[in-house]
Amino acid sequence: MNDEMRRGYAEAVVQPLPDDLRVVLEDCERRGDIPAIHVDPDVGRLLQLLVMIHRPRRVVEIGTLVGFSTAYLARALPADGRLITIERDPTFAALARDNLARLGLGERVEVRAGDAAEVLDQLGDDPVDLVVIDADKRSYPRYLKWAHGHLRPGGLLIADDAFAFGHVLDREIEDDELRAAVIGVRTYNHVVCNSDDFFTVMLTTAQGLTVSVRR
Ligand SMILES: C[S@@+](CC[C@H](N)C(=O)[O-])C[C@H]1O[C@@H](n2cnc3c(N)ncnc32)[C@H](O)[C@@H]1O
Repeated sequence: MNDEMRRGYAEAVVQPLPDDLRVVLEDCERRGDIPAIHVDPDVGRLLQLLVMIHRPRRVVEIGTLVGFSTAYLARALPADGRLITIERDPTFAALARDNLARLGLGERVEVRAGDAAEVLDQLGDDPVDLVVIDADKRSYPRYLKWAHGHLRPGGLLIADDAFAFGHVLDREIEDDELRAAVIGVRTYNHVVCNSDDFFTVMLTTAQGLTVSVRR
């Protein structure tokens, strides 16, 4: 059984993409101007499961796109749970607001449009129960630093794209932007996996997912 067969089987059995989310996703795809860079449905479902177990009341997501991962996270929140999700692109942020409202999740989620570093600075010092990172890879170390300072003990930290689009092992990278992204991801992985303040697993999903608990 190869990886593709394993994934195909798991997807057929679990069916990780619910119908309402499928419709929203298809509507976005039809626009033709939204990159298909959302988490895979199996990762979305894993996020939902982790929220069900962890029951966070204060969640910060960095990198919304049109709210696909946000929807998985938000629908598992406890009744008093709230999620702030940050998106740099105002068009994507507006679409995410619409999508989340369509899915009945508008009340639980606040979509903040702006650069994550600036928005994070404005969030204040209240402790956070869960941080999900899926934005510009070069800034992952910066987001880790913020999470380190704001996650409560026992809080959960999740970062997507642990394999840096399949380039994490590359030695020579000509493209400057890609090199910065890969260095960002490598640095994040190295720091979080070697920190005494986090307990981390790296899941070998298609894109790689690091899941850490703040000790
Ligand atoms: C991989 S997509 C997020 C996908 C989303 N988490 C999902 O699975 O549905 C990354 C998003 O981060 C946004 N982004 C990139 N750099 C950012 C920054 N500095 N601040 C806020 N958002 C940023 C991009 O515009 C893009 O929409």
